[in-house]
Amino acid sequence: MTTTPPPLSASGCPMLHGAAFAAHPDAVYKQLRTQGAAGWAEIAPRVHALVVTDHRAAVTLLNDTATYSKDARRWDALTQGQVPADSPVLGMMAWRPSVLYTDGDDHARLRWAMDDCIARISPHRLRELTRRSALTLIARVITDGRADLMADFADLVPMLVFADLLGCPPEKTDQMVRACQDLISAGPEAAQGAADFAGLLFELIQFRRTQPGQDLTSWMINHAAQLTDDEALNQLFCVTGAGLIPTAAATAWTLHLLLRDDEYAGNLAAGTLTVRRALSKALWEHAPMANFSVHFARYDTSLRGAHIPGHVPVLISHAAANTDPALPGGRSYDSRAHLAWSAGPHRCPAISQATTIVQTAVETILDQLWDMTLADERATPLLRHGPFHQCPQTMPITFRPKSRARISATALAGGTP
Ligand code: HEM
Repeated sequence: MTTTPPPLSASGCPMLHGAAFAAHPDAVYKQLRTQGAAGWAEIAPRVHALVVTDHRAAVTLLNDTATYSKDARRWDALTQGQVPADSPVLGMMAWRPSVLYTDGDDHARLRWAMDDCIARISPHRLRELTRRSALTLIARVITDGRADLMADFADLVPMLVFADLLGCPPEKTDQMVRACQDLISAGPEAAQGAADFAGLLFELIQFRRTQPGQDLTSWMINHAAQLTDDEALNQLFCVTGAGLIPTAAATAWTLHLLLRDDEYAGNLAAGTLTVRRALSKALWEHAPMANFSVHFARYDTSLRGAHIPGHVPVLISHAAANTDPALPGGRSYDSRAHLAWSAGPHRCPAISQATTIVQTAVETILDQLWDMTLADERATPLLRHGPFHQCPQTMPITFRPKSRARISATALAGGTP
């Protein structure tokens, strides 16, 4: 916890980006709370948004579709050219024809396709795919005695899983993983990564039109909602954009809790229940999608005392709402009242799939590297820069080096999908 408050932007707003936010996000949420249920923040250089930090206000807004829209074409500052064209927030906030940016009947149609496709993922296949991906990654570091849980494991498991779920041919997987790595980098290579990834999805759609398989791409393009190619591409882009970093972050936070917190560390042998409870606590305390669920009021309005002008972005701080001091104390982490999955019609459609990936990845690495310890004892690791995700930059671990042979034996014994 810092004693000096984080610096304000030139416009006098708390900054939801930059090094000070990455080091002390809670101090910035505290600054925001002084403005009421929603406060102005700078989310990138020269880009401002209202951010809701009050749990009750967040739930009200997320369910009030008559007042609030998800359609980013309502963003006045953007349509009037006041947002820098190369702003790093545009990759996630600019309008696309997908579930994330639509309302009412348009959203219902796209969400119908999304829900049906996600529901077709077999839980057994997903578990096996995640286990096999996790083992492949552990095999790369197991003889070293050290690794970075982020770069070597948590970031890559969902990428390998998604490449397979999307029906990416094996010879293209490396290319897709590289594009995804750039896409989520929040650095200068992000825009190129997004373009490369969209190009790969375009090729994949053409390929699966002639050779359909049991994968998200084939299901999306053949769904009864009859999506155009552009809609299908953006829906698949949305699945990946919405799914990758939060799943990586949830995996990392769960492992961080299990390795650091005495309440869990002594109970690791208790297995699945412990991992599930740790995930639940991680979702309360470190909401992976920290500030998102972007909405635009259709007209000037108010929200629990806060003035909300129409046509400006209003973000929900899932992170700040979950840690709202007004929430009753002593709640159980098993409670589902947290907002890590959001709420209302745009609530995450893949909760059980995300849980399966995180749980399987965590159990697999704990099985293989049972003696791993965190190399950095800090209570809260430094976060990646940017307003949207709450995700550690690195998480170095050490363990006793082991033979790679033990992994191939395990992988073969489990079979592969
Ligand atoms: C722990 C991991 C995850 C967390 C914390 C998470 C969280 C969220 C949140 C907060 C939203 C609301 C976004 C908004 O309204 O702007 C959302 C939406 C969404 N998520 Fe997840 N998510 C996770 C994993 C996944 C995965 C693995 C997938 C895909 C398989 C996925 C697919 C989606 C989609 C498609 C939406 C948009 C839904 C809509 O707008 O109707 N998510 N997620």
